[in-house]
Amino acid sequence: MTKVVYVNGTYHRYNDALVHAEDRGFQFGDAVYEVCEIKNRAIVDEERHMTRLARSLSELSIPSPMRIGAWQRVIQETVRRNRVRDGIVYLQVSRGAGPRDFLFGSVETEPTVVCLARPHSRAAQQANAEKGISIKSMPEMRWARCDIKTVMLLPASLAKEEAKKSGAQEAWFVGADGNVREGGSSNAWIITNDNELITPAVSSAILRGITRTTLIDLIEREGLTLVERGFTIEEAQAAREAFITSASNLVMPAVQIDGKPIGNGHPGITSLKLRASFHEVAQMRQLAGS
Ligand code: PDD
Repeated sequence: MTKVVYVNGTYHRYNDALVHAEDRGFQFGDAVYEVCEIKNRAIVDEERHMTRLARSLSELSIPSPMRIGAWQRVIQETVRRNRVRDGIVYLQVSRGAGPRDFLFGSVETEPTVVCLARPHSRAAQQANAEKGISIKSMPEMRWARCDIKTVMLLPASLAKEEAKKSGAQEAWFVGADGNVREGGSSNAWIITNDNELITPAVSSAILRGITRTTLIDLIEREGLTLVERGFTIEEAQAAREAFITSASNLVMPAVQIDGKPIGNGHPGITSLKLRASFHEVAQMRQLAGS
């Protein structure tokens, strides 16, 4: 459980961590966020996450309230105060609070910064990976700037609820062209029978996942073949392996799409190998005092 939450410069007990009723994150979804993995008291790929945060803020013309060193201190202190060894740290920045107005240029606001950290069970995650997840496809219903990591997550939340009702753990959004875009909270991958690793190319239709980027480093190190292109649900169902990537799930094998088994219906060998080697290429910032 989260015990302590950072809000605008102060660490609060969980139940006392509050933001203003007219925060633009609350009223307009006018906020961006990052989720980083914590492994063995190290922050995974923090620099890449901070670079993406800076880009998200800049795309929305939200002035960054902190420089990289200050973000690192907030993250570090939040993880330390919550005594998280393995888990995630969540950092959110909204444009701030002010009288409700669609135009943000006419109101002076100070960005609202929230940071919290939460443990998870590495063993339970590994058990999930060894079982594999099921995926349900659905039509893309999000906006045209999915490359910005905003908190406008209602479509993803609805999609994942619908997936859950059909017994699946992730939703894959399919564009009007018939190609898979990405998951509700992850990037989408398949491995073809020719041993090619396929994932959609980056564009404004998907988030450039940090786990995706680091996995590409690993794929190159291993001499595997990467192809960044679209694929359909039918191609995925006929693939040898499929998996998703995200900071909270790493490389998570998928064993079923819309009820059809992938490969032999068990997590793929290559997916599991990539999962096992992921942290050999990821950047790890070990927290002081650990
Ligand atoms: N989600 N695509 C979407 C839509 C996402 O929400 C995420 C991450 C990803 C993968 O990005 P990364 O590898 O940087 O985690 C792709 C986070 C984990 C979340 O919302 O909890």
